[in-house]
Amino acid sequence: MNTVLLKDTDEDIKKAAEIIKNGGLVGMPTETVYGLGANALNPKAVLDIFKAKGRPADNPLIVHISDVSQIEKFSLAEEIPENAKILAEKFWPGPLTMIVKKGKAVPDEVSAGLDTVAIRFPSHPVAQKLISFAGLPVAAPSANLSGSPSPTTPQHVMRDLKGKIPAIIDGGICNVGLESTVITLTEKPPRLLRPGGITLEQLRDALGEVALDDAVLHKLKEGRRAASPGMKYKHYAPKANVTILKGGNRDFYDFVNANSHSNRAVICYDEDAPFIKGNKFLLGSKSDSAQQAHRLFDVLRQIDLNPEITAVYARCPDINGVGLAVYNRLIRAAGFEVKDLAEI
Ligand code: TXA
Ligand code: MG
Repeated sequence: MNTVLLKDTDEDIKKAAEIIKNGGLVGMPTETVYGLGANALNPKAVLDIFKAKGRPADNPLIVHISDVSQIEKFSLAEEIPENAKILAEKFWPGPLTMIVKKGKAVPDEVSAGLDTVAIRFPSHPVAQKLISFAGLPVAAPSANLSGSPSPTTPQHVMRDLKGKIPAIIDGGICNVGLESTVITLTEKPPRLLRPGGITLEQLRDALGEVALDDAVLHKLKEGRRAASPGMKYKHYAPKANVTILKGGNRDFYDFVNANSHSNRAVICYDEDAPFIKGNKFLLGSKSDSAQQAHRLFDVLRQIDLNPEITAVYARCPDINGVGLAVYNRLIRAAGFEVKDLAEI
């Protein structure tokens, strides 16, 4: 199959909407990462998403809308809880996904057999137009091959899915750079399952108590069921072996410089660069978690383009605000390997 790169003009977005209406798949920009969209109400189209990505069948998809009224119009949810109305008012459209009891129209293929559904109203104008022109809710996971970092540019999508899907819309680089925050509203208190651009602090401001799922910061214990099935898979992993290093500047510089060789790279902040020998990939300023989020996946993909790099040391990010999302993705890239330099 030939994969065409469409522009973000109305004319081209309409072509993409036709593909979706006809049961096909489209790589689409959102403010978080690129999605692989299909008609959420068409089980066969949804199954094709799983095939194209090589995604495990037990990992449910997010349903994207371009207007809150579509939840009712398309019978996506059994009911819209009060909490969801508060969050929608504050954070939609935007990088927040809410899990609620699913409505009768949602195929089992989307929810992977669960009785809940994840819903998101993205703020990216191209995503909104695509959904509106198609006149359908759009199921879309991140548009990467299962196991590789989520794509933040159309080139990333092309690299993973060229020949497997008919079209990708070029909407430039994604602004947030990490996938949406996922919160479940089906329990009390609501629980954060995946941190993202809308922070835990913002959710607690809006709702009061919000629990943090164990899988956000820790490896799931053997035999425990994942609240968010996606969290149990080793995600975002570059081929090189990644280790996160905790510690102050001096300890970090001393450790990485003492272990410097040509097959080794360091992921660090811009301010660290002058003090570090050898290959380095910069995440942005130490105090700017949003910039780190914006760059992380591109850095992980760049590392994969350098097959000679077999080991990576990454500075441990600050876990406040959006930093919690950066840390959550980085510990998965590192297979949960964190070394505390103060203990060496
Ligand atoms: O920013 C995003 O959310 C992007 C863009 C394209 O919107 N999408 C995305 O989708 O990241 P995906 O499929 O890569 O990640 C969705 C996550 C997975 O961890 C999945 O297990 C979880 O959401 N999820 C989906 N439906 C769920 C449900 N009903 N219950 C629990 N977790 C759910
Ligand atoms: Mg994904």
